[in-house]
Amino acid sequence: SIDDAIIRKSFTGRGDQTVEVELILESGVRGLATAPAGASKGKHEVQFLPQDGVDAAIDMFRRWVATDLIGMDAVDQGGIDAKLEEVDGTPNFARIGGASAFATSLAAASAASNYLEMPLYKYLGGALASSFPYPVSNVIGGGKHSRNLGPDFQEFLVIPYGAPDIYSAVSTNLEIHKEVGKELAKEDPTFAGGKNDEGAWTAKISTIKALSILSTVVKKKAEEKGFAIGIGIDAAASGMWNGEKYEYRSEGKERSAEEHMEFIKQLVDEYNIVYFEDPLHEEDFDGFAELTAALRGKCLIVGDDLFVTNSSRLRMGIEKKAGNGIIIKVDQVGTLSRAFETVKLAKENGYTIVVSHRSGDTERELLAHVALGFQSPLIKTGIVGGERMAKLNELIRMWEAEGKAAHMSKSPFK
Ligand code: PGA
Ligand code: ZN
Repeated sequence: SIDDAIIRKSFTGRGDQTVEVELILESGVRGLATAPAGASKGKHEVQFLPQDGVDAAIDMFRRWVATDLIGMDAVDQGGIDAKLEEVDGTPNFARIGGASAFATSLAAASAASNYLEMPLYKYLGGALASSFPYPVSNVIGGGKHSRNLGPDFQEFLVIPYGAPDIYSAVSTNLEIHKEVGKELAKEDPTFAGGKNDEGAWTAKISTIKALSILSTVVKKKAEEKGFAIGIGIDAAASGMWNGEKYEYRSEGKERSAEEHMEFIKQLVDEYNIVYFEDPLHEEDFDGFAELTAALRGKCLIVGDDLFVTNSSRLRMGIEKKAGNGIIIKVDQVGTLSRAFETVKLAKENGYTIVVSHRSGDTERELLAHVALGFQSPLIKTGIVGGERMAKLNELIRMWEAEGKAAHMSKSPFK
C-alpha cells in the first residue's frame, strides 16, 4: 500500500511550470509521473492548475490528496482515481488541478506495475499487449504553435502506416523531417532552421506550399522504402475560428464554414491526406458529421479539442456520427480511469484511437506505455527533441523486449 505521496514543482520541455508526483509503497517501490501541458487547449478540458497556480496545486495536494492516498493500494487504480474526483469535488479538477490528478493517477499505475515487476504497458493492457502504434509525426508547424506566422494549419504530419517494424517507422519519419528541412531552406531564404515546441519546422510559407513540399518528400520516401506513408493534418481549427469564419492569416483571407469545408475536401483529394484532426472548431459536431460522411474511406476525421478525451463529449459525437477517430490525451480528463472509459467507448463504436502527447511535454517515456497499453494503432508524439524521442526510443526498447510477439498494429488506413 501507499506509504508516502510526494509532490514537487517541475518543468515541461517548454519551460512551463508543472507538477510531478511520486508515490512510495510500503515495500519501498516507487512510481513517478509528471504532467504535460498544452498550448492550444480545448475549451472543455479539465483545468490544468487551480486558479492560484502551481503553489496552490502543491498546497492542495499536501493538505487534501496525500493524506487520503496513504494506506490505499496502488493496484486499486479505480479507487485512487475515484478518490481524486471525490477530494476535488468539481467536474473538471478545478480545485486540485488536472495536473496533480494526472500525475497521481499515472504515478499509481507506474508504482503498481513496478511492484508487480511488469512493464507498465502490460499492466495497463494485459499480457497480450504487443501491437505497436504507428508514429504520427509533426514535420511542419503552423497556427498557434508557430505564432500564427507560418501556414494556417497547426501541424503537417506523416504516418508510415506500411512500416514493418517500429524502428523503420521511426527512422522513416526522422528522414522525412530532415529532408523537409532541406527543402524549406531552398524554398524560403529567411528560413533559419527554426523549430516550434514540438520540433516541427516553422517557416513563413503558405498552407499549400507546406503541403506540396511534404507530399513531394513523402512520395519519394515511400518509393524508396517500398511501403505506404500517409500525410496528415491537425488544423486545430478552433484557433482559426473567429466565431463567424475561419481566418487564413497566411493568405490574408477568411473562409466561411462552408468554404472552409470545401477547401478541406479539395486538399484531401489533391494531396491524398489520410488523417485530418480538428478540421473544424470544437463545437461543430454537425460539421464534423458532414465531413466524416463525405470523406469516409478516404480520410480519418479525428476529434481532439472536439472530444477532449471526455466520454460524454464522445457520446455526443457517436450520436451525430461526428468523426471516426479520437485523440486520447489522459491529461485532458485527468485520470487513467476516465481515459480508459473513453477508449472503451471509442472502440465499441468503431472510432480509431490516437494516444497523444502535448506541445509542452516532459522528458518522461510513460506515454509509450499508455499507447501500447490502450492498444492504440497510432501514437502522436512528435519526432525530434528530447521530450518526443523519449517516447519513440522507449517504443524501440519495448519492441526488443517483446521479441517474436512484437508486431505493428493493423493500420487504420488502406
Ligand atoms: P496542445 O495541442 O498545444 O494543446 O498540446 C496539440 C494538439 O492540438 O494536438
Ligand atoms: Zn490537436
